Amino acid sequence: MSKATKKEWFRVRRIKFFDTTLRDGEQQPGLNLNREEKLKIAKQLDRLGVDIIEAGFPASNEGDFYSVQQIARAVKKSSVTGLSRLSKSDIDTAWEALKDSPEPRIHLFIATSDVHINHKLMSTQAQVIQDSVEAVRYAKERFSVVQWSAEDACRTDWDFLKKIMEKVIEAGVDVINLPDTVGYTTAQEIRAMFQHLKENVKGAKDIALSTHCHDDLGMAVANSLAAIEGGADQVECTINGIGERAGNASLEEIAVALHIRRDHYGAEQNLNLQEIKRTSSLVSKLSGNVVPGNKAVVGNNAFAHESGIHQDGVLKESSTYEIITPELVGVDANKLVLGKLSGKHAFKNKVSELGFDLPEAELKRVFKAFKQLANKKKDISDDDIFALLVADKNED
Ligand code: KIV
Ligand code: ZN
Repeated sequence: MSKATKKEWFRVRRIKFFDTTLRDGEQQPGLNLNREEKLKIAKQLDRLGVDIIEAGFPASNEGDFYSVQQIARAVKKSSVTGLSRLSKSDIDTAWEALKDSPEPRIHLFIATSDVHINHKLMSTQAQVIQDSVEAVRYAKERFSVVQWSAEDACRTDWDFLKKIMEKVIEAGVDVINLPDTVGYTTAQEIRAMFQHLKENVKGAKDIALSTHCHDDLGMAVANSLAAIEGGADQVECTINGIGERAGNASLEEIAVALHIRRDHYGAEQNLNLQEIKRTSSLVSKLSGNVVPGNKAVVGNNAFAHESGIHQDGVLKESSTYEIITPELVGVDANKLVLGKLSGKHAFKNKVSELGFDLPEAELKRVFKAFKQLANKKKDISDDDIFALLVADKNED
């Protein structure tokens, strides 16, 4: 591509981030966030600048319904959405949960691969088309934005995908998501699929195409980036890659890859990358999901150098071994160690690093508890501070 064309493409392309930590992420076995925790995460996702927060699946249970409703009312910058099957009752329930959000948005889904249609839905392709069209039309009468997902799209026959996509586009859909539900595809395949469908499906260029990859073969991030190369306008992911089985594509890895390699992807994004580490820590603490030290971008070792040759290189010129600066993702390079001599300022910093934004009175209370602990214990860890914050919350 010539320099001029590349520049032009760079200017016009913006990838939307659709975060599904609170829906697909929460499907991680054993993970159960309460309403207060979900709201805290949603507010942090809003600060991070994600375009869309999938807050839950309102018709699946009462807890999800009220949590989606609370988030839809509280979050003002990000759009809020909820998952829904194609039935009118699911769509009505989603509407009740989401109608107070500034831009009510629904996420409809149905499986499209033969293996799912034959063995799970025990239906036919014709029926899946008819149900999808009816649901999109019904949802369009209520919601500002209607997204429809072809579950297991990456194992679906392309001709059938083309046919059903054209029908839901005619019915008025705004976004079509093509998930790799079981983490089966390869980068080359998913890039080709997006290119093919964008080029050949009538109306595909007038709506947004979305990618949603799972990590069963450890390829979710690479596949999401390949889908973006193939023309995806929106990327669906979770914080720290949490989710069903091996999880979803990691938001932080995709976001930073798009930023560091914008010469290659030519894409802009809305995220405030300095909120990345804080968001990752908050989700890790509240979900109990420990982030491995060697995890890209947010692992504790992501900016640590051990070998003499590397240390020598970094001291002379950091870019020798560091392609991402810690500051870019909100990691404080000069870590402050907290102890009995620490002041309220450093403590407040740490509290906010852990993802908490406390009113003054609460901060004062937890700081007092911290001082008492620091008098008894020499090394105060993040976990100690987190425990104090949670204990204080439980006493409210
Ligand atoms: O992985 C998947 O297919 C999903 C859909 C419900 C979008 O999570
Ligand atoms: Zn999924």
